[in-house]
Amino acid sequence: MMKKSIVTYETFHGSAKKVAEVIANQLGCKCINVDTPFEAEDLREINNVILVFNFRGPYTAQLTKLYLSRVKEQLKTKNVILVGEGLFSEKEFPIVAQEIYDNNPSRTFNKFFVNGQLRVDTLFPEERALLAKFSELTGMKITDMGELDLNKAEQVASEIEALVNSEEFNAPVEEVPESDTIWVCSVCGYEHRGDNPPEKCPLCGVPASKFNKK
Ligand SMILES: Cc1cc2nc3c(=O)[nH]c(=O)nc-3n(C[C@H](O)[C@H](O)[C@H](O)COP(=O)(O)O)c2cc1C
Repeated sequence: MMKKSIVTYETFHGSAKKVAEVIANQLGCKCINVDTPFEAEDLREINNVILVFNFRGPYTAQLTKLYLSRVKEQLKTKNVILVGEGLFSEKEFPIVAQEIYDNNPSRTFNKFFVNGQLRVDTLFPEERALLAKFSELTGMKITDMGELDLNKAEQVASEIEALVNSEEFNAPVEEVPESDTIWVCSVCGYEHRGDNPPEKCPLCGVPASKFNKK
């Protein structure tokens, strides 16, 4: 049985949204803005998480990373696919992808790139300022650039469809048996279930030595 997928997108001028919709159409799944209140529990029935974001220099994938930090635990048993959309970042994409994966290890991890576009007259004032700085540093003139490559988006959508149907993506998830031991933080009362106490209390920050078995 094919497991369920979800596509999220982070967009400022709509290109990443278009790419996300092409992919979601192909998979016949939900497509939501990464900004939408969406909690970890919403991922319970989902096997494949496809994240589409655009490149914005130092702000690349900012909202996507925020979202990932909320669902970090759930991702360990999910297949994650990153789709980057930008003007010229295909070469740097692996670095961004590696950083995202290192912070949020998942069951499987794949990435795709789609060429984007920039239309100067649609930019927000703060984007103009950022690009002016970039222009000053690199000597590159900022004009209308690129063409959103929807053919590539369709090709990527087909490749993603093949992946989500693959054996690798549908192998049964190994259940980790839940431990019976509960550790209580002697300082703040935080409770942690597991064979060992956490390295540091996530509430008050004291070390593992301050935890006692319940
Ligand atoms: C402020 C700003 C910074 C950008 N930085 C990059 C970049 O570092 N690398 C890149 O390939 N494209 C960059 N772009 C181009 C965008 O990725 C491209 O315009 C994309 O199609 C925008 O997607 P959207 O329509 O979903 O907002 C930048 C665009 C803006 C406005």
